[in-house]
Amino acid sequence: MSVMVNVNGRLVDKEHAVISVFDHGFLYGEGVYEVLRTYDGVPFLFDRHMRRLRASADRLLLPVPVADAEIDRRVRETMAAAGLGADGREAYIRLLVTRGVGEISYDPASCPDPTIVVITKPHVDAPATAYTDGVTVSLVSVLRNHPGSVNPIIKSNNLLNNALGQQEALRKGAFEAVMRNYRGEIAECAQSNIFIVKDGVALTPPVDAGLLVGITREFLFEVAREVGVPMREQVIRDVDLFGADECFLTSTTREVVPIVRVDEHVIGSGKPGPITLQLLRAFQAHARAQAAVETTNTVRR
Ligand SMILES: Cc1ncc(COP(=O)(O)O)c(C=O)c1O
Repeated sequence: MSVMVNVNGRLVDKEHAVISVFDHGFLYGEGVYEVLRTYDGVPFLFDRHMRRLRASADRLLLPVPVADAEIDRRVRETMAAAGLGADGREAYIRLLVTRGVGEISYDPASCPDPTIVVITKPHVDAPATAYTDGVTVSLVSVLRNHPGSVNPIIKSNNLLNNALGQQEALRKGAFEAVMRNYRGEIAECAQSNIFIVKDGVALTPPVDAGLLVGITREFLFEVAREVGVPMREQVIRDVDLFGADECFLTSTTREVVPIVRVDEHVIGSGKPGPITLQLLRAFQAHARAQAAVETTNTVRR
């Protein structure tokens, strides 16, 4: 099977996974989403993803009329139908909530029922060379959305800003797009958060720079504390990025990926840095340990 979808509680295969063109998620990009992955078959940090999903939805005054336990049940059922989550077959899980089907009007009153979709497919790691050799990213001209506009703190289905940034990077052959905010500071990447390492300290832009508060970013702060790597938020500008000793990005699907080049600028030694690799290894160990804890949580949920 390998790809299965749950649309409003109904389990369907890829070919039958459809929603109406009158869904405001399609018409206006009105909706929110989460991406999770499993470790040892367990959806990683499920509760944190649910909290962020609901926080995103609240900012759109979008109700999520299903309890976490029911979402958890749908995720597991969809994974099982896809043959994922067992025997080392890790899952990618995309959870979407949209305004639902209504009139062609911005008035949410015409959409009585939000649409809730769970997509599960096999998790695919970034190429091994991304971790061994590091990646090249591009500092793109597309600015990250102003927080007073479509606030990047919302994990929104309206992804045009991210797509335009990433497409500029892809045209330059880069792995990811680094995006500045309206003040010209580094904000985040199109699909991940960014960190630099300077003089032994890991630094990442503050939330106020206008970014998605990544679950990986948050978990890495906890891991860094455990392993004694100093880590804090700090405004990062181009010059800090180009002059960094090390650099890396974080996201659910890619964990911690070393960045060795930003366009024509070589970062540090041009190889994945020791602190980056220490954090990557520690992150992976803690993620698997957390998966074991979450198995117990699931029994309680
Ligand atoms: C814009 C953006 N920033 C950051 C992230 C990283 O978030 P997380 O660590 O929760 O996957 C993502 C993930 O998709 C993203 O799209």
